[in-house]
Amino acid sequence: MLKRFSLDGKKAVATGAASGLSQAIAIGFASAGADLVIADINHDGLNETAKSIRALGQKAEVCQCDIADEAAVEALFNRVDEVYGRVDILLNGPFAFNREKPEKLTLADWNEAIAVCLTGFFTCAQQAGLRMIERGMGGSIISIGSIAGASALGRGNFPYSVAKAGVHQLTRELAVEWARHGIRVNALLPAQMRTPSVNRWLEDPATDEGLVAHLLKGIPMNRIGAPDDIVGPAIFLASEAAAFVTGTLLPVDGGNLALNAGGSHRW
Ligand SMILES: NC(=O)c1ccc[n+]([C@@H]2O[C@H](COP(=O)([O-])OP(=O)(O)OC[C@H]3O[C@@H](n4cnc5c(N)ncnc54)[C@H](O)[C@@H]3O)[C@@H](O)[C@H]2O)c1
Repeated sequence: MLKRFSLDGKKAVATGAASGLSQAIAIGFASAGADLVIADINHDGLNETAKSIRALGQKAEVCQCDIADEAAVEALFNRVDEVYGRVDILLNGPFAFNREKPEKLTLADWNEAIAVCLTGFFTCAQQAGLRMIERGMGGSIISIGSIAGASALGRGNFPYSVAKAGVHQLTRELAVEWARHGIRVNALLPAQMRTPSVNRWLEDPATDEGLVAHLLKGIPMNRIGAPDDIVGPAIFLASEAAAFVTGTLLPVDGGNLALNAGGSHRW
């Protein structure tokens, strides 16, 4: 049975893989046997990830790509074609947005959040889906959603939460559309996890000192997550062990959504 969790021989694309959760998942995919194309706007971070992947004996092709740029996404998948000739797994991971109260949010900031956090996930899924359909061997598409897309957070997360809710519905729609092609489409919904961007936010002097204690009130397991927490669930969804799992939104949140306290509103 454990063999069904293996990613031996699989070819994966991971976006946002220069840092944080996508980086941990990309390295996790390699530890399970996959070769990767890793994409991000941060070239130095990508090189670090590639080093870790190669140290595991797997292949890592580095591709600088802004997922909000449709032409760059096409170029990324053309590179995947050249290097591997196929894609079995796509991980959609990046995010970028300005934390701002809705009444002050500019349209430019709204558009940027949607372009990176939602539209970029669609264009990558479409490029991967086209190739998976053409090859006829199925595939697994995994997007990093958030508790923010399932429950309102407040605290200036407005455009991010809206985009994440879109990612969740993109997951369900694509799962239904592409089930007949054997393409499984799922999302992981983390609560707060200690990645570089979350550490920057928690350590920012402008952030309320009591925020961590406040967040923990919404997490029954009483800790902030670590990037490692998401790796096992991601490998499961990517693998044949999840052959009948599609359209699912899997919380990786220490019980946050079970408690339905994602909001924990505070400015
Ligand atoms: N860390 C958390 O607490 C948490 C909680 C819920 C959901 N998430 C989600 O997990 C994912 C990863 O977040 P993280 O905390 O690891 O963040 P992170 O900042 O560590 O990593 C995000 C990566 O995305 C890249 N990126 C940003 N804009 C990009 C673009 N336009 N094109 C390509 N790459 C781009 C960055 O360079 C960075 O490497 C995001 O989708 C985020 O919304 C994180």
